[in-house]
Amino acid sequence: MTDAPLPIAILISGSGSNLQALIDASLRDELDCDITVVISDRHDVHGLKRAEAAGIPTAVVAWSEHKSRAEFTESICRTAEDHSARAMVLAGFMRILAPVAIERFPNAIINLHPALLPAFPGTHAVEMALEYGATLTGVTVHFVDEQVDHGPIIAQEALPVHVDDDADSLHARIQKVEHRLLPEVVAAFGRGDLTVEGRHVRWRQISLEETGS
Ligand code: GRF
Repeated sequence: MTDAPLPIAILISGSGSNLQALIDASLRDELDCDITVVISDRHDVHGLKRAEAAGIPTAVVAWSEHKSRAEFTESICRTAEDHSARAMVLAGFMRILAPVAIERFPNAIINLHPALLPAFPGTHAVEMALEYGATLTGVTVHFVDEQVDHGPIIAQEALPVHVDDDADSLHARIQKVEHRLLPEVVAAFGRGDLTVEGRHVRWRQISLEETGS
């Protein structure tokens, strides 16, 4: 008997290329999760069309229609729960959730960040790495805690900054890594392979037997 895939909500704010990577992994049966809803904080973003094309229910929880971060977060959590989601994946979601989200989804909110945290947190990570003169940057996937871009790191991958990079060229290379790394992490989470011990995330070791070797 196989376990049912973990129901998850994906949160987006824009183009949704990372959402597409998750959908594609799911279509290949490699996500080990069931995307039960895609939630956007804005109307008319391309990511919603990607979800609709894949037949996934969508919801818009507009930031502008809420009085406070707490109310906005409450609506997001309720929408995810209404679709039976037991985890949330922030895939290019540009809003900060209030702490109540962590109470409702403890160690079950995953965020993607386009830099090697703790370097360059915030919304302009790619530009900041360039301006700083960093020769390496990368991608971080981490659990969300009460602080911004701070929770336990699940996976990181570095990539070089080229001398002739601008924000667009660097971001394009970062996104290639994101599109591979985020689905890998979400699948590991869906299989129950990740354990959080303080700031440390342990990946379950796969035995030779399981690999079929
Ligand atoms: C990603 O590069 C993510 O790291 C950043 O915003 C981008 C979203 O891209 N926070 P997309 O909407 O998944 O195409």
